Amino acid sequence: MYKPIEIADKIYSVGCRDWDMRDFHGYSTYEGTTYNSFLVLGKKNILIDTVKEKFGNELLSNISRIIDPEKIDAVISNHAEMDHSGSIPKIMNKIGRDKPIYCSKMGAKNIKANLNKDFNFHVIKHGENITLGDRTFSFLETKMLHWPDSMFTYLADEGILFSSDAFGQHFAGDMFFDDEIGDEIIPHARKYYANILLHFSSRVQSLLKDVAKMNLKINMICPDHGIIWRDNPSKIIEHYDKWSKQEPQKKVVIIFDSMWESTTKMAKQITSGIESEDVNVRLMNTRKWHRSDILTEIIEAGALVVGSPTLNNNIFPVIADVMTYIKGLKPQNKIAAAFGSYGWSGEAVKILNKEFAEMELDIIDDGVRVQYVPDEDDLNKCFDLGVKIAKTLKERL
Ligand code: FEO
Repeated sequence: MYKPIEIADKIYSVGCRDWDMRDFHGYSTYEGTTYNSFLVLGKKNILIDTVKEKFGNELLSNISRIIDPEKIDAVISNHAEMDHSGSIPKIMNKIGRDKPIYCSKMGAKNIKANLNKDFNFHVIKHGENITLGDRTFSFLETKMLHWPDSMFTYLADEGILFSSDAFGQHFAGDMFFDDEIGDEIIPHARKYYANILLHFSSRVQSLLKDVAKMNLKINMICPDHGIIWRDNPSKIIEHYDKWSKQEPQKKVVIIFDSMWESTTKMAKQITSGIESEDVNVRLMNTRKWHRSDILTEIIEAGALVVGSPTLNNNIFPVIADVMTYIKGLKPQNKIAAAFGSYGWSGEAVKILNKEFAEMELDIIDDGVRVQYVPDEDDLNKCFDLGVKIAKTLKERL
């Protein structure tokens, strides 16, 4: 149960908290998540976004604490993904199947395809304003941020931006606003950006420029996940600007896995070499860290270093999992290097370098390969690789 909160005059947050969610399609959500939904009352009553299917009854119950759901006149759907559209059938059955759903052209197509049901879709265009009762809603399509159907809804009089997934965080707590939680929420927002939006960073940059040109008054940003930005909405916009620029920092992330601790020994020596040059380094064993936490560290790093033993002429399976994930999210502006031990064939470093090349990372060294267990000479080579990575990074900042 979620106590509806009046976030502005006659505008309520009525969504649901998913306390138990721990894996959101491959993204670790240690603190659950929320599916935010907003009820805007006036001469017409409008519901902005719904929730995941299994929370449909809870959403109706929350709405009922404010008005009879049958008095809702229309739904605005900013995004077709099922965590926001899954309960549309339940909501429409309750409020009236023929009532309009306002969404983008792709929204109508994708909602229909996801739910295998048709509705009374009213397709809106980028930049369109629609007056419903005594309120005017403006729509801004945000294609591929992060689905083709994504859009923002803006209420100019109140200066409220309903931003769908953008500016969200997977966080279910007892606080609902940025001023209540403070900067503790920023790492959650950074993780969300790294795992959901990083791939689309150039589009984020364009969107931020477009929004700046429109000179919108933004008093509040209401995303579909996590807390609402009401105290200082410009803070999260500034973070998005920084994250989407992908400017490298003086920080190295090393990810590795090991079969008999040889690659671990190499990773530790590379770490020492990097630290000897006063560069920050994060050593992340892929058996201990979730791939989504690794990505969160990578976005601000200037260098990515990957270590893998060779197993069956290939890289280690856990490393392959993380590399596939990293590659899909397309981190940019990084130098890269590989290392790993092997028994007889030793393809891992070569395969990692090929992956780096496909990711358009700048490979600064052929990498260090060690047969079986590293001796002192091998460990010195690893230390020297660390020094080279750190020096190269410092030169490029
Ligand atoms: Fe929260 Fe793209 O759905």
